[in-house]
Order: sequence, then C-alpha cells, then structure tokens
Amino acid sequence: MRIAVLHGPNLNLLGQREPEVYGTTTLAEIDAELASLAAELDVELVSFQSNGEGQLIDFVQLTGAEVDGYVVNAGAYTHTSVALLDALTAVGRPFVEVHLSNLNAREPFRRTSLLAPRATGIVMGFGAESYVLGLRGLVQVLRRSANAPEPTS
Ligand code: DQA
Repeated sequence: MRIAVLHGPNLNLLGQREPEVYGTTTLAEIDAELASLAAELDVELVSFQSNGEGQLIDFVQLTGAEVDGYVVNAGAYTHTSVALLDALTAVGRPFVEVHLSNLNAREPFRRTSLLAPRATGIVMGFGAESYVLGLRGLVQVLRRSANAPEPTS
C-alpha cells in the first residue's frame, strides 16, 4: 500500500511559526515520525510540501495513479482552494484531512473547509499527532475496504 502526505503553504515553517498555535515540532520531525509509523504499518510513504497551490495540484495529478490514498494538511488552501478539491476528486483516491490546530476554536474563516465534504475523515487539534492519527485511520479504512467480501448477486 502506498500513501502520500501533502503539506500545504507555510507548513515548512513549523517549529518556529506561531508555536503557541502549531507547537514546536518541525515538519522534518513530523515526516520522520510518519516514516517510522509507515514502516511499522508496512506502508510505503511519500511526503510533499509546497507553498504553491499549482505545485500541490501537480503533485496530486502525478501521484494519483500510484497511491492508494492521501493524508492532506492543505494549510490555508483548506479554506480557499476549489482547485485542490477538484484535483483530489479527479484522481478518485480517498484522503484524510488533518490539521494541527482545532479549526473550530479559531477565527470564523477557518471553520470552512472546502475539502471536508470529500474527505474520508478529518483529524484536528492534536498538534503533530493529528498526522499520526490520520495516517493510522486512513490505512485502517483502506485495509478494511480491501478485505471486504465482494457482494453476492
Ligand atoms: C492548519 C490550519 C489552517 O487554517 C492554517 O492556514 C494552516 C495550518 C493547521 O494545521 O492547523 O496553515 O492547516
């Protein structure tokens, strides 16, 4: 099984960016933790960060045929990007939306996620642990659906 992790704008600054909101764990540390969890779960993991909406969309288009699902923290594009939603929808792979912070406890404009209606699940508010929980949840859902018996006719 192959999973891609997508990190959106400004997440490259984790560790120094608003630590009171996002914590002190760096993106490299998050990716390292996800890589070790992936090894434990016997999953292949690829991780990608970009500040550019187009680059994130290109990545989804390029990987769509090769991965089984995505863990997505789209950062601020969560609230604005119809184009990223369309890319994720176009490749037809399940994705879990994750956020370090609890969006419902923040500014009103963060309470709307354009990705949420298409997400398999959403994890938010657990800091870096949101990614870990999101990856575990996605792998479990994918394994369950792969093991589900074929419907009999
Ligand atoms: C975020 C929340 C977004 O509103 C914000 O723009 C981010 C990070 C989070 O992980 O809590 O960049 O996605």
